[in-house]
Amino acid sequence: MHYGGDYNPEQWPEHVWPEDIRLMKEAGVTTVTLGVFAWARIQPAEGVFEWEWLDRILGLLHAAGIGVDMATATASPPPWATSAYPDMLPRTADGAILWPGSRQAYAPTSPEYRRLARELVTALVDRYVDHPAIVMWHVNNELGCHVHADYSDHAARAFRVWLQAKYGHIDELNTAWGTDFWSQRYTTFDQIVPPRSMPYSPNSSGVLDFKRFTSDALLDLYKTERDIIRAAGATQPITTNFMGAFPAADYWSWAPELDFISDDNYPDPNDPESFRGAAFTRDLMRSLKPDVPWILMEQASSAINWRPTNAPKAPGQLAALSAQAVGRGADGVMFFQWRQSRRGSEKFLTGMLPHSGTRTRVWREVVELGRTLGELPKLEPSKRANVALVFDWQNWWAISNRDHPVELDYLALVQRWYDALHRQHIQIDIVHPEHDLSAYQLVIAPHLYLLTDAAATNLVEYAEQGGHLLLSAFTDVVDETDGFREHGYLATLGPTLGIWLEEYGALVPPPQASAGTSAGDTAGTLRTSGGPGEDSAAVAAPWGELRGEYLAEVIHVTDADILGTFTSGRNQGLPAFITKSLGTGQAHYLATIPDDAGMTALTAWAVATAGVEATIPGAAQVPDTVEVIARGEIVFLINHGAAATTIPIEGVDVTADQPVSQVTLEQFEWRVIDVTPA
Ligand code: GLA
Repeated sequence: MHYGGDYNPEQWPEHVWPEDIRLMKEAGVTTVTLGVFAWARIQPAEGVFEWEWLDRILGLLHAAGIGVDMATATASPPPWATSAYPDMLPRTADGAILWPGSRQAYAPTSPEYRRLARELVTALVDRYVDHPAIVMWHVNNELGCHVHADYSDHAARAFRVWLQAKYGHIDELNTAWGTDFWSQRYTTFDQIVPPRSMPYSPNSSGVLDFKRFTSDALLDLYKTERDIIRAAGATQPITTNFMGAFPAADYWSWAPELDFISDDNYPDPNDPESFRGAAFTRDLMRSLKPDVPWILMEQASSAINWRPTNAPKAPGQLAALSAQAVGRGADGVMFFQWRQSRRGSEKFLTGMLPHSGTRTRVWREVVELGRTLGELPKLEPSKRANVALVFDWQNWWAISNRDHPVELDYLALVQRWYDALHRQHIQIDIVHPEHDLSAYQLVIAPHLYLLTDAAATNLVEYAEQGGHLLLSAFTDVVDETDGFREHGYLATLGPTLGIWLEEYGALVPPPQASAGTSAGDTAGTLRTSGGPGEDSAAVAAPWGELRGEYLAEVIHVTDADILGTFTSGRNQGLPAFITKSLGTGQAHYLATIPDDAGMTALTAWAVATAGVEATIPGAAQVPDTVEVIARGEIVFLINHGAAATTIPIEGVDVTADQPVSQVTLEQFEWRVIDVTPA
């Protein structure tokens, strides 16, 4: 179990370092990430490298038995680089330059940035490839974090090369992008520019390709550095730190390039539901590379600095959220950062060692957590869950385009589906729509607006081979070019499901949840316009009433069983929920998007129909603020709620080494129970 954090010794006089190491040992630190923002100190001028300080700190850490996650330091070019090559600076869609002075001031496709980064990484790896302290390599840092897309001329040139490789001939692109609309037809690739600010709606297929290109360009930075590290003979695993469901990078396509997944996660302690958002992120990280444990690379010990209000973590909350990561497959719990900075924009972000020192509650909790994690037995990788929730970046990008019947926050909606299952203590894997689904009893594939032929086939085959497939509104609308298919909407799935879709029937939307926050924020529909629109659609379904939001689709049944009917509004009396037997399985389609309560009821019905069991027997009685997570035969019980709770469970408390038949947890208490049958 890795325990530690980003360590930035370059921010401190050298006489502080021995104290750092002594306190790291006291806290049970096993691993630190070194060098993330040290480019300016490692290379004070082009062609000039200063290694001695890094040699010394690596030596001190190694002597203390602390492993190093060696960062490549390319995350932020130093002022000498941006002054010498100002052309490397990224640009916004309006053409504004993002100037140096904070961090990440580079265009990912800038030849100057890329050359300097290659030179730095080559020199760094040449020097340290055999250093015994290094246990892993950490490429760059949060690639794309602040610059979700660069619109510079470098990007324009690289985008054209990317498009040429994808389409071969410009006419293929014209067809895919539908450029005969609004006189957009290109005659050469050179005429194409990134979707910069323009008079009105950009070509949505072009925007989608630009997002794909941007993700690939960022990934290429990773691959370039990784290849240099490997070519130098490094044998340690290589990673870069992800940012959960980060909009600018399709981590499904990135994951195979990493030896293990690592993630940075900062749930808001002010939001009592944020632990559920964190649970989704952790399950996503586990699912990106299911056979290799991931590492929580960064979290805060307490308060951070970048929200309008930065509450401290409540007593015990740090350990509860750390246990959640381990329960959901992490083999490392790390922090940003070891010692709280004294200057700079993150000086209020609490480190493992807070500014107020070792007399603090945070320090005591950090030490206690290090001890507890150190005492855990070696954990098996998590087993495959029985329920899969489909999440697809390509669909996210496409569904986020403008000019749709209604604006949908895909991430918030996926989180809403996840929450509904999480509240019922159902273990969930997150899957890509084209991945092998055969092991799952239930697959929920919500709102796959962009559905590839391969994904459609995969989902149908899954159902035909005995699966339970749950689909819902705004699915199978466009192909991978963001164009409609022939023969109307639901063109690939409709004939199989025995339905066709006439129109989408947008409802007056509920207040949008912001991406990444709990979907609880979308509960409750308020009429936001004075117009005649309906704000929700009532549906009579097998489990009772359901309230739908956003869309009340007009679907027609040709050959399916109608299980639910709209009971209000313009769709009154029309089918709302259908089921279709396919092979030895079933597919269900809901023509609206349920509110929170509706989603909980619907997923409970789907779970029961598919015969899925909760994580432990009796989980139905466990409050939904308690997490029940199985990692193989090891069950993590974590109480995020305010009320003390007693949970019946037969097994052995692995920390106390005591048999138990029930466990009582106060707020933020957690236990790890081995439920291996005697
Ligand atoms: C990210 C970065 C860190 C730090 C934290 C602060 O995770 O990787 O360097 O800035 O944010 O929250």
